[in-house]
Amino acid sequence: MAPRVPDEIDVFTAPHSRMKELVNIYTQKMQCVDFRDGPEVVSLLRGLDFTLREFKSHESIENIFIMDQLKNRLKQRQITNTAVCDCHGDNRLADVVQVLKTGIGVRQSSIGERLRFGLRLQRAFDDFVSNFIPHMEEEEQVFQPLLVEHFEYEELKILKEVVLKEHELV
Ligand code: FEO
Repeated sequence: MAPRVPDEIDVFTAPHSRMKELVNIYTQKMQCVDFRDGPEVVSLLRGLDFTLREFKSHESIENIFIMDQLKNRLKQRQITNTAVCDCHGDNRLADVVQVLKTGIGVRQSSIGERLRFGLRLQRAFDDFVSNFIPHMEEEEQVFQPLLVEHFEYEELKILKEVVLKEHELV
């Protein structure tokens, strides 16, 4: 495991705490919701839609403010690192969004259709989570050390401030 970096230059841990909190909340909700109950499902989908946007926003913030900067820095130093090039290439989040979209008319669906939809949604969400948790660990354990290696301490302090602000965590 990579050594912990000082909190003021740790750009991943705080946003990831928020992401993990959301993952835990929706993992639990998904297990508890009664997919036979139309209004209950509609309420779940509204909240989940908002949460998936937050995951997507997290990914965009990282792409723009962290990964692109890291890629540029490595390029300037003529270093190739393929992990950095495509760290958000997996589309499992998009898969959950797609399944969620198919649930738009779920309130009017039959109970059988709602249960089948629930199963698809749970599977897609579980699949996303099983990829997302190790992905965040990789960012903390592989990309954070790369940032420390290739950026000045003061640059990373500023980067962390920007990242927290973009996540609305300050
Ligand atoms: Fe921090 Fe790319 O998830």
